[in-house]
Amino acid sequence: MTPSTQNDAWNAGDSYEAFMGRWSRKVASRFLPWLGAGETLDWLEVGCGTGALSATILARCNPRSLIGIEQSAGFVATAQQNVTDARAAFQLGDGQALPLDDNSRDVVTSALVLNFIPDIPKALSEMRRVARPGGAVAFYVWDYPGGGLEFVRAFWRAATALDPNASGFAENTRFQFCTPHGLTELAQAAGLQAIECTALEVPTVFEDFENYWRPFTLGTGPAPGYCVSLADDARERLREKLHGDLPRREDGAIALRAKAWAIKAVAV
Ligand SMILES: C[S@@+](CC[C@H](N)C(=O)[O-])C[C@H]1O[C@@H](n2cnc3c(N)ncnc32)[C@H](O)[C@@H]1O
Repeated sequence: MTPSTQNDAWNAGDSYEAFMGRWSRKVASRFLPWLGAGETLDWLEVGCGTGALSATILARCNPRSLIGIEQSAGFVATAQQNVTDARAAFQLGDGQALPLDDNSRDVVTSALVLNFIPDIPKALSEMRRVARPGGAVAFYVWDYPGGGLEFVRAFWRAATALDPNASGFAENTRFQFCTPHGLTELAQAAGLQAIECTALEVPTVFEDFENYWRPFTLGTGPAPGYCVSLADDARERLREKLHGDLPRREDGAIALRAKAWAIKAVAV
């Protein structure tokens, strides 16, 4: 663990759902029609978390089977609890050393994970290894460099204004490669073919400030991890700054947007 990764705490399924799961489900619904995979296929999801994309695959794509690999035991437990479909199996594992045979899955996918994996080329080469020739390898990450994950970008902007050290933890600083060019280059280096990239956008509407702020106080993910690491008075200053900074609609809601970059490619 490096200083910049020390807040990347992915453990508590309920906190993740409140912070990110509610939005990642919406992105999953945009991703799958674009991916356009067929029915009755064998899927693998790397870094399945609490099962947001897995549940969407099961609901929309009629898979023959779906394996979710995840490094957090807490998230595996939440995914098993949330997704009880008999076609799905969730297990502990590392995306850098997938516990699966070569050429064993038709669709290998990953949602909002790649930037958190220490050795990204290794993870992509593992995804390609387990995909059947002609199968699909596809993934998406938030548009961190472009500020496309607006609710998290607003958090870091306020945090950095109060504490310049916060910038070292911010995803927009750490994950500069999350652009169409950077992601395409990674896919090419992994030997993938017919690479396509698209933007996936969803609205993120928080009914009021508390609905925005509370998930940051639960500690799951880089920004919440940073938030709970602050002393009480520093956290209160951050809360007040965000309370003043964030734009409100007439009904009091905070209406922002979230954009991800998605890649789909063919394994050979
Ligand atoms: C932002 S969450 C995304 C979860 C889920 N895919 C979704 O769309 O909601 C990132 C996930 O990647 C997992 N992860 C990070 N590094 C991993 C690795 N090396 N192997 C497997 N999973 C990993 C984390 O534990 C976490 O569940």
